[in-house]
Amino acid sequence: MVGSTVLIMTSMAGSVDPLAAFEQIASHRRSSLRVDPDLAVSDELLDRLIAVAATAPNHKRTYPWRFRILTGDARSSLGEALAQDLLEAGQPEAKVDKARSKYLRAPVVLAVASVPGEDHTMTAENRDAVSAAIQTLLLGATAAGLASYWSTGAAMNSARVREFCGFDATDTLVGLLYLGWPTGDPPPIERPAPESVRIGNTTQTP
Ligand SMILES: Cc1cc2nc3c(=O)[nH]c(=O)nc-3n(C[C@H](O)[C@H](O)[C@H](O)COP(=O)(O)O)c2cc1C
Repeated sequence: MVGSTVLIMTSMAGSVDPLAAFEQIASHRRSSLRVDPDLAVSDELLDRLIAVAATAPNHKRTYPWRFRILTGDARSSLGEALAQDLLEAGQPEAKVDKARSKYLRAPVVLAVASVPGEDHTMTAENRDAVSAAIQTLLLGATAAGLASYWSTGAAMNSARVREFCGFDATDTLVGLLYLGWPTGDPPPIERPAPESVRIGNTTQTP
């Protein structure tokens, strides 16, 4: 691993083990804002990442994801929208000031929202599908050598942020994703082994 470049494992014979390659990409995906805010990410790459995000599983095929690509001045306008809502809510000045500048930390911020379903279950499943789409996008970004960072916080409930992005009042903002070219690696992370219990008979090897 050099910066966020993923080096795909090949066997001695030179063939790629697809699962090993995927494991490498998945384990190298990290939340990182160590990016060059002035180095653009091409529209072509962003379109590819959004297209791969839309391959996520989606019950009832509702295609609930909505993407907004925010670059340049749009990032400060986004911050100002959040700052205005924080001001109105009586939040401390430091928090309001931080909101104004924080989206300038990366060259691209992707706003991702989920549309409501016909009932509570569909609305919940739509959001699940959008979360799956976001992870798919983050893995694609990692494979492309980009650093990424899924952020939520107060912006998720900001009416001005939702309006600035052109989402409907009934849409749910699921994340603001920072994307950019890495300038370094985030500190290593310790992950506990997931609980995994086998129930039932041993499966037969095909
Ligand atoms: C739904 C969701 C929301 C998140 N929101 C934030 C956030 O607002 N601020 C933040 O610092 N990290 C946020 N994160 C990133 C997590 O903090 C991060 O995934 C976690 O620390 C593990 O680190 P890693 O992503 O590098 O593996 C969010 C992650 C998810 C899945």
